[in-house]
Amino acid sequence: MKFYNLNFHEEKKNFSHALKKGLGKKQGLFFPINIPKLNNKIIKNILNLNFIDRSSYIISLFLNKKEISLDELKIKINKAFNFPILLNIIDKNLACLELFHGPTLAFKDFGVRFMAQMLNFFNKGKKILILTATSGDTGAAVAHAFYKMQNIEVVILYPYKKISILQEKLFCTLGNNIKTIAIKGNFDDCQKLIKKVFNDKELKKLLYLNSANSINISRLIAQICYYFEAFSQIPLDQKQKKIVFSVPSGNFGNLTAGLIAQTMGLPIHKFIAATNINDTIPRFLKTGYWKPKKTVSTLSNAMDVSIPNNWPRIIEIFNQNNWDFKKLESFPITDIQTTNTIINFYNQYKYILEPHSAVSFCALKKQILKKDTFNIFLGTAHPAKFQNYVYNTLHKKILLPNILINCLEKKNLSYKLSNNFSYLKKFLIQNYVI
Ligand SMILES: Cc1ncc(COP(=O)(O)O)c(C=O)c1O
Repeated sequence: MKFYNLNFHEEKKNFSHALKKGLGKKQGLFFPINIPKLNNKIIKNILNLNFIDRSSYIISLFLNKKEISLDELKIKINKAFNFPILLNIIDKNLACLELFHGPTLAFKDFGVRFMAQMLNFFNKGKKILILTATSGDTGAAVAHAFYKMQNIEVVILYPYKKISILQEKLFCTLGNNIKTIAIKGNFDDCQKLIKKVFNDKELKKLLYLNSANSINISRLIAQICYYFEAFSQIPLDQKQKKIVFSVPSGNFGNLTAGLIAQTMGLPIHKFIAATNINDTIPRFLKTGYWKPKKTVSTLSNAMDVSIPNNWPRIIEIFNQNNWDFKKLESFPITDIQTTNTIINFYNQYKYILEPHSAVSFCALKKQILKKDTFNIFLGTAHPAKFQNYVYNTLHKKILLPNILINCLEKKNLSYKLSNNFSYLKKFLIQNYVI
C-alpha cells in the first residue's frame, strides 16, 4: 500500500515514510492510494476475531509486509491497544462507544499509542526527539504512549496555569524520557515556539526532531479499528438494523477514520458529524459555501476548530467513492444544548456524559425515534476529566478512575520557562546534545 500527497499527487510513499514525515511536500496530507475493500464474507469472519487480531489484520492491509510482518505488527498493536473498549448499551437502540478507558482517558490513546509503537519500530533504535505543544489532552496521550521507550525523548510544552491541575498531573509526573515545560504564555505561544524550533537550522542539525502531530496518517489507521469493534459488540437482536454513528467532530479525524471503515465495506448506514457552534462543516453541507468564521470557545473545547485539518481527506474519500455530500449529516450543537443534554441524559439513563460526548448524543436524538436503526454515539473522553463542570451541572461527584487518583499524589516534574525562544533553544541543547 502506498500513500499519496493530497497537495502533490506525484509524491507516493509507503507507510513508514508517511509516518515519519507526518506531512508531505507543500504541507500535503498523506492518504491511501486505494482504500482496501473487504467483501461481506471477510467482514463477517473478522468480526468474530478478538480486537487485537482483527485490528492487526485491518492495519496490515495499509502496510507493506516487507515493512513489518503480521506477527511483529500484532505485538505492537497488543502494546498500543492494551486497554478495554466498550459498547455500552444505554437503551434498546442506543449505545455509547466508550473510547475513554485508555491510560489518559480519551479516544486519542488509540491513535497516539499506535503511532508511538510504529515510530519506535520504524526508527530502528535511532535517537529521536518528539517535540510537541498541548492545550491539555494531547500532551498526556503523547507522554504515556512514548513513556520509557528507548532512544525516544519527549518534550511537551504547555501554557503555564492554563490547563487544569488534573490534566497537568496526568503528563507532568512521569519523568524518565518525558520532559514537560510550562511556558509563561498561552497555547498559541507554545505552538509558535515549537514552529521556531522546527525552523531553526542549528537545532534541526543537532536534534533528531519529530512532531508526532495530529495529522499523522498512522493515527487515523488506528482509529478505523474501533468502528469494527463497535460492530462486533452490537447485541444480536439489533444486528439487522441500520447502524448509525454520531461522531463529535473538531478536526474531523474520527469521522475520517469512520468513513474509511465504511469504504472498506463495514455496513454503516449513516454518519452524523456533530460539531459545536464552530459550524463551518454543517454550514458548508447545507449551503455549499465554505466560509469559516472566527473560532469561538465552547464547553466542548477540544472541538473548537473552524478549519478542520482532516477535511481534505474527507473530500478525497467522497471523490474516490463517487459519493454525494448529501450522504453526510452534520449538526451544530450550542453550549446550552450541551448542558441540557447532560442533565436530561443523566435524569433519563443515570449515565454521566462529558461535553464532547454530549454533543455527539445531542446530534443523534431525532435518529433514535426511528425504530429500524441502531444508534451509536462516540464517547471520546471520560467524564472525570471534566469533574468540576460535571459537578456544577449535575451536582454529582464523579468517582475518579485509579489512574487519576494515582497521579494526583505524584510530584509535578515540570520545568518553567519564559515565552522566549532562546531560553528554549538553550534548554534543548543542554539536555539533548551530547
Ligand atoms: C474529547 C474529544 N472529543 C472529540 C474530539 C474531536 O475529534 P476530531 O478532531 O478527530 O474531530 C476531540 C479532539 O481532540 C476530543 O479531544
